[in-house]
Amino acid sequence: MRLDKFICKSTELTRTEAKKLLKTGLVIVNGEVVKNGACQVHENNTITVEGEVLTARQSRYIMMHKPEDTICSNVDEVYPSLFHFIDVDKAWDMHIAGRLDADTTGLVLITDDGRWSHNIISPKKHCVKTYRVWLRDVIAEKVIDEFKEGVQLQGEKSLTRPAVLRIVADKEVLLSITEGKYHQVKRMFAAVGNKVVGLHREQVGEIKLDDDLAPGQWRYLTEQEVLSV
Ligand code: URA
Repeated sequence: MRLDKFICKSTELTRTEAKKLLKTGLVIVNGEVVKNGACQVHENNTITVEGEVLTARQSRYIMMHKPEDTICSNVDEVYPSLFHFIDVDKAWDMHIAGRLDADTTGLVLITDDGRWSHNIISPKKHCVKTYRVWLRDVIAEKVIDEFKEGVQLQGEKSLTRPAVLRIVADKEVLLSITEGKYHQVKRMFAAVGNKVVGLHREQVGEIKLDDDLAPGQWRYLTEQEVLSV
């Protein structure tokens, strides 16, 4: 990880304060003064400030039940950021592993471990995300096969990857996809002439949204959940 990030993870300093500290020349990596915050450091490096060895705080992994009319961004826009709901130290240093639209509810995973979130977000990893979808029109059975084969989204070069559609009721389905294109679920139903009127993420990989979490509530992931990714 970057040295300035490591300093933030091992002290109470913000990224800007860490950069200022680096400029003073007081940060020593393996016996040498390093002033460049972009310098890459590893767990086996010895990093000291005025002789005191820094140890990085453990990474944090959170699941949250995203309420409607909130956004998955670190800054507020038309709607407030989800980070307002998370009352932990330096919550703003964390990021969201797979964003949801403002009007989508459900499971959001939040962490400061970039390698972990990469396994969720990267299209190459094929991590399955399952959504409960409410539709404007009755779902046609043939859409099961259409989604299995892939549909053409407007403006995309290739078909969507094979997706699993399970019909729950006339206008309610579960959809499992392994990619996360912009507005993917809404665009998939638009591609077959239907319209999403409600969207809720229930599961990411092996991690299911905890029924005990009301909208706006969160909890740390269990070790088993963290290791499942
Ligand atoms: N697909 C969408 O269209 N919106 C979301 O929020 C997530 C997936």
